[in-house]
Amino acid sequence: MAPAPGTPDPDAILDLRGVDKAFNGVSVLEGVDFSLRAGEIMALIGENGAGKSTLMRIVTGIITADRATTMTWRGGPAGFATPRRAMDAGIAMIHQELNLLPHLTVAENIGLGREPLTRLGLIDRARLRRDAAALLARLRQPIDVDRPVGTLSVGQQQMVEIARALSLDARLLIMDEPTDALTDVETAVLFEVIRGLKAEGKGIVYISHRLGEIFTLCDSVTVLRDGRTVHRGPVAELDEATLIRHMVGRAITDQYPYLACPPGPERLAVEGVSAEGVRDVSFTAAGGEIVGFAGLMGAGRTELGKAIFGASPLRAGRIRVDGQEVRLRHPRDGITAGIAYVPEDRKAEGLIQPHSIRTNMSLAALARFCRPGGVIRRADERAAVDRFMAAFAVRARGIGAEVRTLSGGNQQKVSLAKALMLSPRVVILDEPTRGVDVGARREIYGLINELKAGGLCILLMSSDMPELLGLSDRILVMAGGRLTGRFARGEATQEAIMARAVG
Ligand SMILES: Nc1ncnc2c1ncn2[C@@H]1O[C@H](COP(=O)(O)OP(=O)(O)OP(=O)(O)O)[C@@H](O)[C@H]1O
Ligand SMILES: [Mg+2]
Repeated sequence: MAPAPGTPDPDAILDLRGVDKAFNGVSVLEGVDFSLRAGEIMALIGENGAGKSTLMRIVTGIITADRATTMTWRGGPAGFATPRRAMDAGIAMIHQELNLLPHLTVAENIGLGREPLTRLGLIDRARLRRDAAALLARLRQPIDVDRPVGTLSVGQQQMVEIARALSLDARLLIMDEPTDALTDVETAVLFEVIRGLKAEGKGIVYISHRLGEIFTLCDSVTVLRDGRTVHRGPVAELDEATLIRHMVGRAITDQYPYLACPPGPERLAVEGVSAEGVRDVSFTAAGGEIVGFAGLMGAGRTELGKAIFGASPLRAGRIRVDGQEVRLRHPRDGITAGIAYVPEDRKAEGLIQPHSIRTNMSLAALARFCRPGGVIRRADERAAVDRFMAAFAVRARGIGAEVRTLSGGNQQKVSLAKALMLSPRVVILDEPTRGVDVGARREIYGLINELKAGGLCILLMSSDMPELLGLSDRILVMAGGRLTGRFARGEATQEAIMARAVG
């Protein structure tokens, strides 16, 4: 149980009070209080850009606070000068954005910087591989430790990050949205592991935008709003509506707004499609329809999305858009055919991190803003970018801000805007609200529904079950690259879907 803001907690292992931080003169944290006891699972929640990652990056020595009343870790000073020192003091963090080296193997990534040595002082590869395999077994992830990390799905990479953090055997483990690419089954395994760490007396900071998880897993909660601590207390004293009010300062009703639309004509037909990770998939989808795709990690949903978009070559089958067969050899072909794709991995595939919001949003759609002769109508481009900035409530210093300086959820909004800027006929959304806060999710859902009402055909791939059940007109289930179940909206339940997903 956390004491009132400002009062020290004598039992805390980590105690931060009055923490201030600004970037380029803009205040991001103001007088933040945060504390945690041994054996406590503390949720840290707040809207996108509230300052959660920034606060935890201060704890792990990646950045330093501008000012603080006190910062203590196990009785001594916290506020480490480097990540290495924080690690040596027993603090580990799983970062929000994937931080793995794609060309190294799973085992090499897990052991990076702490490789076991043989007596001759060489890297003990056998042990490196054995340790990695043991950690992955603990997470029940039978991933081949010799595979290059870049060939894994985002969810699998997230598991590798988690395994890497576990290998440090830290006293405090900070998890910044560890489940945002995991499905229910993998999340349940992770929660078991976290409860095990709690039982060993370790402290856990758990950051997530899936509010259901806070109630399942966490003991206490700290809420940040606009860089200030607005609530601290036990989870048991809260309900979801109150938590949301603390986070966004107002109530949000109808979190997953379903919009019933009269079914339009068939827009997309996928016939016997096989591709990398996809086997003989057939379905159709109409304009004004949201078709949800469920499945466990590695079921082939992302691969299917890529095949339909032209980012992964078809081995068999045909794809028609508005009755016309489309030949897809390259994502460009997908765009020309009116198919847009919002990738799951915004960092690697979606956005150019060092470029501005404006460039990222409009790059793929620049042709639309061109006069004959190739002159870009900057005013039109600007107006389009401004419209999406407002519609998605992107929180940034301006449209010139570099994408890498945005919080994770705001990056996701930019990635979504980039695809919609193309005015597609079919849009494939792969985890569209990964890392997006409850208020902004509601805005994005509203926008998806508007697009739906406008006759767009939407394929929604999501590992967030309430989102999938809440928004979809139909749900298709995948397992092992195949379609294994089809449910109409009224028939779909979490249990029925899971049975097909594991089957
Ligand atoms: N290096 C940086 N330079 C400039 N601004 C930054 C930098 N890092 C973070 N910020 C800003 O600080 C604010 C807080 O960001 P932070 O990443 O801590 O938010 P968050 O609570 O983790 O959000 P999310 O839920 O989206 O991950 C944001 O407005 C962000 O744009
Ligand atoms: Mg963050």
